[in-house]
Amino acid sequence: TVVHPFHGEHQAGITTPVQEHLYFAAFDVRDTTTREDLVELLKAWTEAAERLTRGLEVTEDGAVDGPVLLPPDDTGEAQDMGAHALTVTFGFGPSLFTGEKGKRLGIADRRPAELKKLPLFAFDLLEDPISDGDLCIQACADDPQVAMHAIRNLSRIGFGTVRVRWTQLGFGKTASTDRTTPTPRNLFGFKDGTANVMADETAALEEQVWVPDDATPAWMAGGSYMVTRKIMMTIESWDRASLAEQQRVIGRDKGEGAPLSGGLEFTDPVFAAKNEDGSLAIDVDSHVRLAHPEMNNGTRMLRRGYNFVEGNNALGQLSAGLFFICFQRDPQQFIDIQNNLRGDLLNEYIRHVGSALFAVPAGTAEGEYVGQRLF
Ligand code: HEM
Repeated sequence: TVVHPFHGEHQAGITTPVQEHLYFAAFDVRDTTTREDLVELLKAWTEAAERLTRGLEVTEDGAVDGPVLLPPDDTGEAQDMGAHALTVTFGFGPSLFTGEKGKRLGIADRRPAELKKLPLFAFDLLEDPISDGDLCIQACADDPQVAMHAIRNLSRIGFGTVRVRWTQLGFGKTASTDRTTPTPRNLFGFKDGTANVMADETAALEEQVWVPDDATPAWMAGGSYMVTRKIMMTIESWDRASLAEQQRVIGRDKGEGAPLSGGLEFTDPVFAAKNEDGSLAIDVDSHVRLAHPEMNNGTRMLRRGYNFVEGNNALGQLSAGLFFICFQRDPQQFIDIQNNLRGDLLNEYIRHVGSALFAVPAGTAEGEYVGQRLF
């Protein structure tokens, strides 16, 4: 199976070809955790994550080669499965730096000014227990058990130092970072990721995604800011909307994914284009128009979200949606676009229930631990 190197200039799991499955976890540092404990944990996480992404168990002893009278180092469910393109991406939340915690950890003065709780947006119905967090780990893999195994074992290593705050399981990518693989679809049945920042757009990545080398604070150089939004989709209402209405809401057609102004999937939308009856081909309040860089001073983001389904609610409706993840060099990019989506026709069919922002430090060289430059 595919192996993506753990070490590199940037952390893996951002421009890496989007894998099929996600297991995401946010953690809070315990009240008793010291700076030394946190550094030790980041070292242990780095070592384990590097092994896991090679398809190995967390330690040499692993699940079955250690002392029989002790619990095994590795939980064992991914033995012999291979790496399945696993990437493990670490981030730091604003709350790690603030208040008593930030002082105790000695990093209160190292918080980037941009790293603060996201503002409340129109229509937000956020639930605290599934928002925010001091630390996060994003595990993506082409096999769900491999992704789950990574988070399970990294959480286990963190036991006593951090506790899990919330987790999110995602199946089915809703974005691609290259144009050679077919664009996946979200649960509304539309191609998602068409106009994404692609891995080969070097200039756009520098301009929109990576924190520049002269960043303040310097430890964030080469990193990125990750926004996660748990978005419920009211599937039953959507399924009752006509095809014409669905396409009007998105601004693209459902089959090809082409803009309603014409062409094919990758044709640029023309917002001034008109239908025969003189009406605009792309509705002024369609999702694609309001999210498009032309309506946002050229601002873009790298999207990397996943579909999720969590059974049904008491009314028998699907509890399902999009776990939206995006990377940008400044969280303001997400804030501006999300604000511009205030009048989005899509809002009738979605509810944002979870929200978080994390500073994702640059990648590590061999022998370095993730986030080392912060300490
Ligand atoms: C584009 C769906 C939420 C930002 C699209 C497209 C679809 C879509 C189908 C067109 C294909 C593409 O270019 O990827 C959805 C659904 C959402 C959602 C179903 C919620 C459940 C969001 C949010 C943001 C966002 C919260 C950011 C605040 C964008 C951007 C584009 C886009 C930037 C590309 C626009 C362009 O340049 O043409 N989305 N989206 N989306 N979406 Fe969303």
